[in-house]
This record gives sequence, C-alpha cells and structure tokens, in this order.
Amino acid sequence: MDKKVYLVSGGSSGIGLQILRDITDQGNIAISLSRNKEKVERALKQFPDLEGRADFILGDISNTTDAEKILNYLESRYGSLNGLVNNAGVLTKGTIETVSTDDWKFTLDVNLTGPYILTKALLPLLKNAGGASIVNISSVAGLKPGTGIAYSVSKAGLDMLTRFLAGDLGPYNIRVNSVNPGLVRTNIHLDNKIFDDRDSYEKMLGKASPRYPLGRIGEADDISSMVLFLLSEQASWITGSIIPVDGGVMVENDLIPPKQPTSS
Ligand SMILES: NC(=O)c1ccc[n+]([C@@H]2O[C@H](COP(=O)([O-])OP(=O)(O)OC[C@H]3O[C@@H](n4cnc5c(N)ncnc54)[C@H](OP(=O)(O)O)[C@@H]3O)[C@@H](O)[C@H]2O)c1
Repeated sequence: MDKKVYLVSGGSSGIGLQILRDITDQGNIAISLSRNKEKVERALKQFPDLEGRADFILGDISNTTDAEKILNYLESRYGSLNGLVNNAGVLTKGTIETVSTDDWKFTLDVNLTGPYILTKALLPLLKNAGGASIVNISSVAGLKPGTGIAYSVSKAGLDMLTRFLAGDLGPYNIRVNSVNPGLVRTNIHLDNKIFDDRDSYEKMLGKASPRYPLGRIGEADDISSMVLFLLSEQASWITGSIIPVDGGVMVENDLIPPKQPTSS
C-alpha cells in the first residue's frame, strides 16, 4: 500500500484533530481513537470534508480491552502502522493540598498509562511497518511545574516513557519523540471544566500572551507541523528527543520584558 497509516489518539478535538486533518491532507490514512461520539460529531460539523477521509473509532486509551479492539481493527484493515501519535489527554488542576486522589489517578491513567497501553498493544503493527514513528504529545508542564500537580507529573512521566521507548525500540527502527506544547487554544480547558465559563478562559488567554516571547499563545497547527515532521522520513535520525513547541515560554524570565499582545 502506498498510503501510510497513522493512529492519532484524541483526534476528535484540538491538536489531535489538526494532526488528523494534516495527515489526510498529505494523502495518508488517519484513524482517531477517542471516547465521546458528541466530540466526533462536533469535529465533523466543523470539518465536513473529513467525513469518509478519516476514521473515528470510539474507545478509551486507558482501557486494555479498547486497545485490543483497535489493534484488531487496524490489523484486519491495514496489517501495519507507520506511526502512532499519543495525543489524547485530560487536564486537571490542583496542588498537593487541593487535588483529589481520584483526579490524581484519573490524570495519570489517561495521560501516562494510556500511551503506555496503546504503544504496547500496537507494537506488533509498528514493527510490521519496517520503520515507524511514535510521537507523544506532552507539555511544557512536564518540563517545569505548571497547570496542576497531577497533570505536570503525568507529562514528566510521559517524557521519560519517550526516552525509555526510544532506547527499547530503536533496534526496530521505531523512533519515539515528545512534543511539549505551551498554551494552545483548544477545547481542553473548557471541556475539562478548568474554567467556569468562556469569559474567564478568554481572560486567562489574554493574560498569558504577553508571557510568551513571541507575543502570542499557540494554535493547533503550530504543534501539528512539528508532529508531521517527526512522523516523516525527514526526521529519520531523531529519536528520544523532548521538543518544546512553545513560543519561547520556556526561556521566558524576568529579564525579558513581558510582550504586549500584537495589535494589527
Ligand atoms: N491545549 C493546550 O494548551 C495544551 C498544552 C500542552 C499540552 N497539551 C496536550 O495536547 C494534547 C491534546 O490536547 P488538546 O488541547 O487538543 O485537548 P482537547 O481539545 O480537549 O482534545 C483532547 C482529545 O483527547 C480525547 N481523550 C481524552 N481522554 C481520552 C481517553 N481516555 N481515551 C481516548 N481519548 C481521550 C478527547 O476526546 P474524548 O474526551 O471524547 O475522549 C479529545 O479528542 C493533550 O495530551 C494535552 O495534554 C495541550
């Protein structure tokens, strides 16, 4: 088969949806795995051209039975997998004093155990491709404390999973890298009820932009372009890398005056 096949977890929204669109725009095959039918419908309403071009499978990445289901589906349809984007994630807030143990477990389950389960399940198909690429969507919160304790720890763990897998899977010519976005405008903050309403979310975005040396927060395609590069042959000697794509927020410090939002 000429076309390459990629699984993108969480392809029904935000960054994953953009990655899904970019893969299909290149003429390749993209399959999404996510839980809620409503979000798939929302995505198809926003981008009707995806109907019939991308596959949306329902399932939970933290569930081993669902991972087996997607393995069987991909195996019977395609027989191999050129790439896996472990993008699905949830956001929770809170400090050690305010986070609930349920939220802690849920966050670690989805953001860290999920990519582990999916990668382990799909390994036979990735090996069959004779060279493959795994991209884990982490966060700058995995590199320095931010957002919430459970979220930050889950993403730091994901970065170590990236490094470990890169060592384990290099001999099979399977590359594994992390992309660590800064703040990106998606549905994640409102869908995960981090803010009570859109107004307070927009206020936070407004306050955040000047903290970014490039003067703006990110858009989904800022992240997707790096992911598509890492999936491609152009990145054939890159593995085990943890790559911030963050408008420079990781180098922001007191010596860099906060930027004003761009006025145009
Ligand atoms: N947006 C940001 O500012 C930002 C910054 C840094 C890192 N990131 C990371 O980027 C990734 C994508 O985030 P986003 O902002 O695009 O979020 P989003 O718009 O909320 O999309 C998240 C996607 O993941 C799916 N998902 C969540 N839990 C799942 C599960 N257990 N099994 C399968 N699918 C699941 C969601 O669908 P269902 O809910 O229907 O399952 C949805 O499709 C996440 O890993 C996030 O941590 C985002």
